[in-house]
Amino acid sequence: MSYLEPWEESTGSEGSDRLKRFVFQTKEDLQVHSLPHVLQPLASKQTVMGRGSPHQTGDLTSYDILIRGPLYCFASHIIDIAPHVPVRGVHRHIAAPTIFCLSGKGWEMNDGLTYQFETHDMVCFAPYSTHQHGGDAEVGCAMISLATRLFHSFGLMWREQHKMTEKPAFPDGTEPLYGDDGTLRGYKIKKGVLGIKDDIEVVVGPEPKLEDVFQARKRSAPWNAPVHDTYDRYLKLYHDEVQYLGRVDHVVHESREAWEWSPQGKLKWFVHPDIETGGRQVWAYLQEIPPHSRSGKHLHVAEEQVLVVEGNGYDIHDGARWNWQAGDFICIPRMTTHQHFNSGDSRVLLLCAMPSPFVDVGLGGIEQLEDAPEFPTGDG
Ligand SMILES: [Fe+2]
Ligand SMILES: [Fe+2]
Repeated sequence: MSYLEPWEESTGSEGSDRLKRFVFQTKEDLQVHSLPHVLQPLASKQTVMGRGSPHQTGDLTSYDILIRGPLYCFASHIIDIAPHVPVRGVHRHIAAPTIFCLSGKGWEMNDGLTYQFETHDMVCFAPYSTHQHGGDAEVGCAMISLATRLFHSFGLMWREQHKMTEKPAFPDGTEPLYGDDGTLRGYKIKKGVLGIKDDIEVVVGPEPKLEDVFQARKRSAPWNAPVHDTYDRYLKLYHDEVQYLGRVDHVVHESREAWEWSPQGKLKWFVHPDIETGGRQVWAYLQEIPPHSRSGKHLHVAEEQVLVVEGNGYDIHDGARWNWQAGDFICIPRMTTHQHFNSGDSRVLLLCAMPSPFVDVGLGGIEQLEDAPEFPTGDG
């Protein structure tokens, strides 16, 4: 059972908005402080898409939060593609995740175009693009999706299955749905699951209203008219966003981005507003920490999710120690002072991500409390 019950009904004065505000914020705060800050990865399993892990900190749905880790926004999952496996399914959602290749190499199909990626490259999607992940036939690949629950808060938590993998595994409580001609049309969620009174059919294919809205965006031509006022700027934005997403690369190649020494340590940025890509949900960078060294110490209002790509060590969060090793997820709750320590003889590599909208609501920026020992020269 999740801690936060969805759709709780209010009763009488106990449910007044003023009381709910203080009761629920106290309960949430207790929950945030009781959850572990380092999570071991959940096991992969077969799905209708192919092989992958469940979401590491709860599902993408915003009522399924604060279950495994103290993060409100992130719900990343791992996509495993072994060598010589059947091609994965095809799907689409409005949310545009940013996917980092942890090992191997592969390809990504976005709206009919195919992009190649290798280990430590970042694949960025356009919103509501049909997509399919593929691994190199000989080596396969593993990827982590840096997805956030923000789209659910926007009312845009929509997902469609367009094609299933060749040998789909159907979720518990479901059964395959066949058409009159015997073809697989999707699957049926049986009544009783989550209290539903009737079966729900999950049919393969696009939802017509969404399809119309997004196809209209894609058909829009470049804006060439003068901009006279504020309203014109928003008319132009509609066209500009589509043109921008149509011309940028969908892969940020690790080999083309430079390492830079910052007060926080040695960083390589993958997603932020100055890198031209479709990725807009997160800011993300790789951090390398030399053996037995440490990062700087800093604090930001935004929460942060860190995947330990290589090495082992520990974090200090507001004075508390959290040990980690390769494969673990480090959860840094909002407004937490944090610092990473490498306790091994080889480098530590961390994939760090923060939700980008904090900047847009006036809560961006970083307070640096201590510099990495190697800054500014990299010599230590
Ligand atoms: Fe997807
Ligand atoms: Fe941070």
